[in-house]
Amino acid sequence: MRAPIALLLFAPLGLLGQGTAKNSCLDCHGMLDGAAQRPALLAKTDVHTANGLGCADCHGGDRTSDDPGEAMNPAKGFIGKPARTAIPKLCAHCHGDPNFMRKFRPQQRVDQFELYQTSVHGKRLASGDDNVATCIDCHSVHDIRAVKDPQAPVYPLHLPETCAHCHADAKRMAKYGIPTNQFAEYQTSVHWNALKVRGDLSAPTCASCHGNHGAKPPQVESVAAVCGSCHVLFAQLYQKSVHEPIFSAASGGGGCIVCHSNHGIHQPSTAMLQGSKAVCAQCHDAGTPGANVAAQMAGWLDGLDAALKHSESVLASADKYGMEVSEAQVRLGDGRENLVKARLALHAFQPEQMKKPIDAGMAIANETLRAGQAALHEKDVRRMGLAVSVVFIGITILAIWALIRRIEASRPGASAPAPK
Ligand code: HEC
Ligand code: HEC
Ligand code: HEC
Ligand code: HEC
Ligand code: HEC
Ligand code: HEC
Ligand code: HEC
Ligand code: HEC
Ligand code: HEC
Repeated sequence: MRAPIALLLFAPLGLLGQGTAKNSCLDCHGMLDGAAQRPALLAKTDVHTANGLGCADCHGGDRTSDDPGEAMNPAKGFIGKPARTAIPKLCAHCHGDPNFMRKFRPQQRVDQFELYQTSVHGKRLASGDDNVATCIDCHSVHDIRAVKDPQAPVYPLHLPETCAHCHADAKRMAKYGIPTNQFAEYQTSVHWNALKVRGDLSAPTCASCHGNHGAKPPQVESVAAVCGSCHVLFAQLYQKSVHEPIFSAASGGGGCIVCHSNHGIHQPSTAMLQGSKAVCAQCHDAGTPGANVAAQMAGWLDGLDAALKHSESVLASADKYGMEVSEAQVRLGDGRENLVKARLALHAFQPEQMKKPIDAGMAIANETLRAGQAALHEKDVRRMGLAVSVVFIGITILAIWALIRRIEASRPGASAPAPK
């Protein structure tokens, strides 16, 4: 293994600047069929080809010889098809070498292999288990694309499927005794909906929470703490709450996922607080302080939501009748903002903290309701006014008509035919 690696080190450097150098590997393999031909057919989509690298830069050998015995001579560094357990090191041969990579991309990271070795995948591979993900299971091989390429298997929209290829395969995962429902659950989540349906690339994929090369994403001490890296304000309140020390002691940092779960995170609602699906009821029996607070919070949130919806419908009908209510409608937006603030404040699990935005929201709901009702009342007044004036105009027309008739009748000879 030593000799090929040493030769490999110089092969790519030798190629630099050679432009369209001879590539007997590509030429011959392009004429083969099946698995031997595939790499040659895919080569044009590969990021390495685009950077002037070729077959021999990974496999070794002599690209200038058309004689297969010479081209694929182990004495010329040819390594053939690498074993799965050897792949990360093969890739790291360049990707872990800052001097080499700098020639292509000065800012490119060179820590992928180093991090990989700290992950569950890397540790298991090092112990000889080649069932785990190596570099090529996430990035593919022979059609490796730039990570920002929308067709790359690591592009956010495709990554969940890339992981699921193994993690949803019950047979492959059977011997590890871990669940295989992560992708199925994730597909029911608010995050998948944001990502796949709304194309929001800031929503987390598998790797945003688990990290890609390392065991966990940077800046978090455990995967369970990852929610706070995006939902910062929620985490700040939660961290100071009565639940934080209890949940983290019980589940090694379970945090948010105790109530929201990890993969199947659904749209939160007051059903989490009250009713048959309430998460609080798992720990707080009816009648205890925790359960009372949960019921109170649900009442506040539902109450404010209903009040805002009522104001909204009154304003909408006033608007339909052409009444000017745009200012109140804008104000209603502030009311909804308070509902959002209240849902955030909930995470302190202290009723006083939530009361403020609830009260502010209620005041706006009432104020906008009054504005809407006033507009509807004014509409009625105007309608009544209109009806009165229509009647008045009608009477006036009738009176004028009668008057004209009377004047015409009283004119001498008015109704007699004119003399011929
Ligand atoms: C003249 C034709 C020819 C040339 C030139 C050639 N190959 Fe091959 N290569 C073959 C054939 C034929 C096979 C065997 C295919 C099979 O077993 O199905 C093969 C097999 C391989 C394999 C698979 C080996 C294994 O262990 O399964 C690799 C990798 C490979 N070639 C890489 C290269 C590289 C890199 C070069 C250039 C340095 C190269 N080849 C040049 C014809 C060629
Ligand atoms: C970026 C590194 C890299 C480059 C460039 C590369 N290969 Fe490979 N190749 C690999 C790896 C890794 C494997 C092992 C794949 C696996 O285990 O499924 C492989 C496997 C193969 C195989 C065996 C396929 C099989 O299914 O048995 C052949 C043949 C092959 N490569 C030929 C080529 C040819 C021809 C080129 C140039 C057109 C090329 N490779 C370019 C890394 C590379
Ligand atoms: C479990 C899946 C997985 C494995 C295994 C994996 N990668 Fe990645 N890799 C990713 C993801 C996801 C990204 C980031 C994509 C993005 O930024 O959108 C990435 C990014 C990269 C990048 C771009 C620079 C960077 O670090 O962000 C390179 C280069 C890279 N990987 C090489 C490798 C090499 C070499 C290996 C093997 C040592 C490897 N990867 C193993 C998933 C993986
Ligand atoms: C001969 C040196 C060399 C080898 C070996 C090599 N690469 Fe690369 N790789 C490069 C260079 C150079 C680039 C282009 C510069 C860049 O985009 O980082 C690149 C680019 C990439 C990218 C795109 C990075 C980005 O930011 O979009 C990925 C992914 C990648 N390689 C994965 C692999 C994998 C997986 C292997 C092993 C199967 C491998 N490479 C083996 C040199 C190499
Ligand atoms: C080639 C198959 C394969 C691919 C692709 C793959 N994994 Fe894995 N993964 C495994 C295997 C096998 C294990 C070992 C299971 C174990 O030890 O519990 C594992 C372990 C893990 C673990 C640790 C599970 C534990 O034990 O707690 C996490 C987390 C993980 N993978 C996440 C991912 C993510 C995220 C992706 C995609 C970016 C991914 N994997 C892609 C096969 C794969
Ligand atoms: C929003 C963050 C998040 C996303 C997205 C996510 N996970 Fe997880 N995942 C977690 C957390 C948190 C755990 C529990 C880890 C712990 O307690 O240390 C976990 C656990 C796991 C485990 C260990 C076994 C288990 O089910 O408990 C695997 C494997 C795993 N996730 C794979 C995936 C895959 C594959 C995807 C994408 C389809 C994914 N995860 C998406 C946060 C996430
Ligand atoms: C990479 C950033 C990121 C991470 C990590 C993350 N989220 Fe999210 N989350 C988002 C985005 C983006 C949305 C969509 C926001 C929207 O609908 O406007 C979202 C939506 C949500 C929603 C629905 C909110 C709403 O108003 O509809 C909940 C609940 C949620 N996430 C909880 C969690 C939990 C719990 C975790 C940790 C297990 C977590 N998130 C991890 C970015 C993240
Ligand atoms: C003790 C249970 C519990 C814990 C722990 C918890 N939440 Fe929540 N969360 C809730 C409840 C209940 C709601 C729903 C309020 C509603 O919509 O009626 C909610 C709502 C949310 C929402 C949606 C807000 C909106 O505007 O719709 C997000 C986002 C969220 N939580 C994130 C988090 C994050 C991040 C953490 C961890 C830092 C966390 N939660 C911890 C119970 C919890
Ligand atoms: C996993 C169990 C668990 C869940 C789920 C849970 N709690 Fe708690 N909660 C506790 C524990 C334990 C305490 C501390 C009780 C004590 O110190 O006496 C506590 C304390 C509280 C307190 C302080 C009052 C008291 O009882 O000491 C409030 C308020 C509270 N929880 C509200 C909620 C709400 C609302 C929910 C649902 C959104 C919820 N909890 C979900 C376990 C839980």
